[in-house]
Amino acid sequence: MRIALIGSGYVGLVSAACFAELGHEVTSVDNDAAKIAALERGEVPIHEHFLPELLKRHHRKRLNFSTSIMESVRASEVVFITVGTPQSETGEADLSFVEAVANEIASAIDGRKVIVEKSTVPVRTCESIRKSLLINGALPDSFSVASNPEFLREGTAVLDFLYPDRIVLGADDDYSASVLQEIYSPLTNGSYYLREDAISFTSSTAPQARLILTNAKSAELIKHASNAFLAMKISFINAVANISEAVGADITEICAGIGSDSRIGAKFLNAGIGYGGSCFPKDVQAFHAVANQCGYEFGLLTEVMRINAEQRRRFLYKVRSALWTLRGKKLAVLGLAFKGGTDDVRESPAIAIVEALLREGAQVRVYDPAATAKARLIIPKDGVLYASDPYGAAEGCDALLVLTEWKEFANLDLDRVRSILKYPIVIDGRNLYDPKEMADAGLLYYSIGRAVGVPRAMSSTVHSREATHLCPITSSASLQPAVTAL
Ligand code: UDX
Repeated sequence: MRIALIGSGYVGLVSAACFAELGHEVTSVDNDAAKIAALERGEVPIHEHFLPELLKRHHRKRLNFSTSIMESVRASEVVFITVGTPQSETGEADLSFVEAVANEIASAIDGRKVIVEKSTVPVRTCESIRKSLLINGALPDSFSVASNPEFLREGTAVLDFLYPDRIVLGADDDYSASVLQEIYSPLTNGSYYLREDAISFTSSTAPQARLILTNAKSAELIKHASNAFLAMKISFINAVANISEAVGADITEICAGIGSDSRIGAKFLNAGIGYGGSCFPKDVQAFHAVANQCGYEFGLLTEVMRINAEQRRRFLYKVRSALWTLRGKKLAVLGLAFKGGTDDVRESPAIAIVEALLREGAQVRVYDPAATAKARLIIPKDGVLYASDPYGAAEGCDALLVLTEWKEFANLDLDRVRSILKYPIVIDGRNLYDPKEMADAGLLYYSIGRAVGVPRAMSSTVHSREATHLCPITSSASLQPAVTAL
């Protein structure tokens, strides 16, 4: 199948490389000439596991790059729209890029095309694309519009594409349904997984992707509802963590208990400083706006967003409670990315917390394995030093804060950490360590939803019970003004 993807950002580029991997002839299009030139030179613009390998494998063979929508659409049978859908000031998705692309596609259509919306969009966007194509001169019989939402997590996007939990196809006519099914057939019939050169993934079961074929509106809603549900899971467990912390229970054990119910599942039940990234915050907000437009006040989502915002404030409150005042304190921060395994800092809770610490007069020494370059562009310069490893960040600091769930942070040499910190205090926003192990290593350890780990030497001055009452359980209204400004 000849496929064009309009938009070579995160979703577009990963999808382009993976479609080429499935055997299709692909053109990845972008209006950023510098980006296309870099891709043509073989450069990889994003940090994504397996992407360099796939781009190299298919470069100038089944995968080409272009700045021309006109030429690429004419050369293709199927056109995926993979441009950004940022959040507008009102919280709704800004669809101006999608509209601009649809208008341009209309004038390029010269034979039967299937136009597929892949970016996350509100329900009824396929309908709007259809109208746009028609008023811009495309003939009604010359195209179909369908929805094929992406479920790609940053850091594991290639594996998510090639080994999906499900492929959702939203088609309103038989032609586009059969074209889309053919595109994904190597995954749905399992033939891709038998290939010797397949990107491998160890799994106990023989993979075969599950296909969900529905209409366009249902597919659009599946995407928004899936992300909103996952965000709800995170906010739910964070709310439970706050109660757990207040009574001295252990949220990790509570999660194991809840998650072992197969109706609930253990994934996305990690308590922490809340969700971030380019998808969840924007998608929950946009889904809430969609509901409003349909005349439904989706109060549950308002609460999901409120809990998420409060989680950062509670963490800052915890830091203040552990250290008393922040002005002039030196704090080591591990992690700037919105989650581990990515260099993306968009809507990162870690960045928001660093900025709040700086506003309160703390000096911050940060380390992130991949996100430093992007973080430098956002974080104010004054008061921040960038370290080249976790120990460089911790050296001489009043406390160590863990803000991103990078796997490598879980394996720190704890004796070394204790010996280089000025005070042996660790405040973990991602629950990467066991409180007892930390206490045994001589570290006073605060985490989310668990009792404080208190080293034996400090047990006469610090009580874990006292620590469990560090943060009021009530909402942000009772938190101090400087904290609520976050
Ligand atoms: C998400 C969706 O998972 C993906 O399907 C969609 O298409 C794009 O948005 P992504 O934004 O890459 O993917 O990140 P994800 O791994 O889902 O994590 C989102 C945020 O939630 C991160 O900030 C992460 O730290 C946080 N999180 C996740 C938790 O706080 N607790 C958890 O248990 C899981």
